Amino acid sequence: MRWFILIVMLLGVMVLAGVGLRGQKFTSRPIEIFPDMDRQFKLKTQKPSEFFADGSGSRKPVAGTVPIGFAVAGDGGPAEFTFSHGPEYASTGMIGEYFGDGFPTEYPVDEALIERGRERFKINCSMCHGLSGNGAGIVSKYWTIPPTANLLDSRVQAFPDGQIFWTITHGKGLMGPYNGTIAVRDRWAIVSYLRALQKSAQP
Ligand code: HEC
Repeated sequence: MRWFILIVMLLGVMVLAGVGLRGQKFTSRPIEIFPDMDRQFKLKTQKPSEFFADGSGSRKPVAGTVPIGFAVAGDGGPAEFTFSHGPEYASTGMIGEYFGDGFPTEYPVDEALIERGRERFKINCSMCHGLSGNGAGIVSKYWTIPPTANLLDSRVQAFPDGQIFWTITHGKGLMGPYNGTIAVRDRWAIVSYLRALQKSAQP
């Protein structure tokens, strides 16, 4: 029995030594069995940081980056970077409950718009729909997914402009929506280029 009490006391002392006494100040860090992410390597606003040479945790935007909605010097201004908002035709491709046809007055078709569309189509659409829009993009060669739409098909040719804009904005089937990644003007530019592709594919 004496041994038992002694062992219990010893255990108690060991636990106390490990955990520490409440309210007592230690110079060394306490033993953390579950750190609970108490200390994280992250930046806090308005707090200093040892990570950066200037010792400041608040950072300025990296040189050359442009926040969405702001103009780039020498570029076309904020109109180039707006995304769909509001019920206007330019923003939705729809007039009331129906797809509209023709280009909105904000984005008249000219050579620059079609050229911009060519570039954007190549970047955003060609891997699936092919450079010519015939649906035989690189993706169709590697994955056993259902065939991507042939955009030169007479069915798609018959779409009103607004429906193509709407399809880019919201996606369809396996095709994702591009509302958040392609600005409104660039979507209309792509529509204009797609119309050019369809015209050149006509016999
Ligand atoms: C990840 C591959 C992929 C990308 C990238 C892609 N699409 Fe598609 N697209 C598809 C697929 C798959 C369909 C067929 C969807 C269906 O009918 O279910 C489709 C259908 C369409 C249709 C026809 C919709 C209909 O109702 O038949 C249009 C128009 C279209 N895409 C335009 C575009 C444009 C413009 C871009 C570039 C902004 C683009 N797509 C990017 C995969 C893609």
